[in-house]
Amino acid sequence: MIRAFIFDLDGVLTDTAEYHYRGWKRLADEEGIPFTREDNEHLRGVARRESLMLILKEREYPEEKIMKMMERKNNYYLAFIKEITPQDLLPGAKELLEEIHATGIKNALGSASKNVPDVIQRLGIRDLFDAIADGHSVERQKPAPDLFLHAANQLGLTSAECVVVEDAAAGIEAALSGGFRSVGLGPRERVGKADVILPNLDGVKLVGLLSSLEHSGH
Ligand code: BG6
Ligand code: MG
Repeated sequence: MIRAFIFDLDGVLTDTAEYHYRGWKRLADEEGIPFTREDNEHLRGVARRESLMLILKEREYPEEKIMKMMERKNNYYLAFIKEITPQDLLPGAKELLEEIHATGIKNALGSASKNVPDVIQRLGIRDLFDAIADGHSVERQKPAPDLFLHAANQLGLTSAECVVVEDAAAGIEAALSGGFRSVGLGPRERVGKADVILPNLDGVKLVGLLSSLEHSGH
């Protein structure tokens, strides 16, 4: 019985994944560190510090410099998200959240970002969530299942009763290891381990989604 959906935010409900990329790209360029869009694919869903570590690779920096670099990237990101309005919701996202909400199934947010409150406020979707787990909620980030377990806990549900909706390989891994079913948005190479794979949420209806999950064999 599915009682809740736990949505990732960046790249699922809004295209902030692009802003995260641009923020990191600017920092990497300024530091003279090579960083491509392809490299960025490995950062999808990965928390701020771990993302920076993946960019720096074997380069070593003092902790103070690492903190400064994280802050710089976040400032670039904050400048991008200042412009966010409800128009920046990805196609189908709000319709699906509203449909779920209206049927009495719960909606939760499960994002590694520390900027969740700001972004969902600007998108105008705060009231559609019954629980929020974000970058401040747990220590161990995706691919650990802790963030999604924290969301399920807030709802008083088990992982078997919740479905995770994710665009990141790290997020699908987190769902799998926590015992959640999952919907992966994006290419098979990235989200191929999900129970149901869709290009995005455009035109996705609750009934169709529940039926796909039911027939996914899990
Ligand atoms: C995830 C994004 O949702 O949040 C990552 O997919 C990002 O790209 C992570 O690094 C942490 O976000 P923030 O806003 O705390 O830097
Ligand atoms: Mg994401």
